[in-house]
Amino acid sequence: MTILGKTTIDAPSVAAGEPETVLTVEDLRVTFSRGGRLVHAVNGLSYRVRTGRILAIIGESGSGKSVSVRALMGLLPPSAFVTGSAKLGDTELIGRDERSMRRIRGDHVAMVFQDPARSLNPTMSAGAQVVEAIRTHRKTTRKEAADRAVELLKLVRLPAPERRFHEYPHQLSGGMRQRVLIAIALAADPEVLIADEATTALDVTTQAQIMELLVDLQERLGTAIIMISHDIGLAASYAHEVLVMYAGRAVEHAETTTLFGNVRMPYTQALLGAIPQLTTPAHALLAVVGGQPPDLSALGEGCAFRERCPRATEECAVQPSLEMHEPGHRYACWNPTGMGREES
Ligand SMILES: Nc1ncnc2c1ncn2[C@@H]1O[C@H](COP(=O)(O)OP(=O)(O)OP(=O)(O)O)[C@@H](O)[C@H]1O
Ligand code: SF4
Ligand SMILES: [Mg+2]
Repeated sequence: MTILGKTTIDAPSVAAGEPETVLTVEDLRVTFSRGGRLVHAVNGLSYRVRTGRILAIIGESGSGKSVSVRALMGLLPPSAFVTGSAKLGDTELIGRDERSMRRIRGDHVAMVFQDPARSLNPTMSAGAQVVEAIRTHRKTTRKEAADRAVELLKLVRLPAPERRFHEYPHQLSGGMRQRVLIAIALAADPEVLIADEATTALDVTTQAQIMELLVDLQERLGTAIIMISHDIGLAASYAHEVLVMYAGRAVEHAETTTLFGNVRMPYTQALLGAIPQLTTPAHALLAVVGGQPPDLSALGEGCAFRERCPRATEECAVQPSLEMHEPGHRYACWNPTGMGREES
């Protein structure tokens, strides 16, 4: 996939037919210094993202979903201390200076945020913002960039793209604004697109349309997508793989059908079992799971879920590591559930 002649970062070679690993995150840790205390927001997160796949990251509010992806993008404040590795092909993203990170951002990894109204510049037309994004990353004439911007607005299925090109964000609906933001994110043809609650601010119908657009783009362009969602139903419907985070760690990770059909981690089961339908947003999950998430500045030795876990035993005083206990199914638990969702 090449738009405007980009040089791509080398990716490890793989056997024909297998999706290529485009991003490898290993032992990612993020600690904030806040009010004289250390807040351990991400605590040894590891996963791979493959070309043309959608990985959903789910978990309660405060579990470290946004911080973990912002760390990859170099978008954390100076109070954040980041260690570990995140490799895009052979290129390490962690520890780069802002200048080289700016080149990677957008060019190779791009992000779409929750609030399209605030993410767009209210004083520029939609088209001008897409043109600006193209010209930031590519040497191109204004005319070429404008043509490419219209192409991108068509690609994201903005209705009447030639006319909307000249309209300002306030003239567009929430769904249209999100389409423009996706066009901006795609301007430099990134290998990985991160959508952090990209549909949360939208009504249910528009949410589904934007998710379908992301699936379509992933299929047509081969872009890998990391989808962070408050909405477990969306993750279940659209993602190929789901990674569940708790207290800054991955606690369960598998193909979507494997995970939801065969939940092993009591925390995942609590997320799912307590809700009648898979549509409860994460900010409401606190109520359904019961108890409070742990204090990230005072995480002890053991499993961070043990205060809330109905299956906790003495062993849980030691943190279980995330292991591939079954083919394609990783989880971190001493006493995994055996019967999936039916058990709750
Ligand atoms: N700049 C910061 N300084 C200190 N702590 C922070 C900062 N940004 C985030 N945190 C803390 O890091 C933890 C993880 O936050 P994060 O935003 O990643 O959660 P999240 O899983 O994305 O939650 P939500 O579902 O609400 O978006 C939280 O405890 C949060 O308070
Ligand atoms: S390790 Fe123990 S406390 Fe943690 S989820 Fe499993 S059973 Fe519960
Ligand atoms: Mg978040």
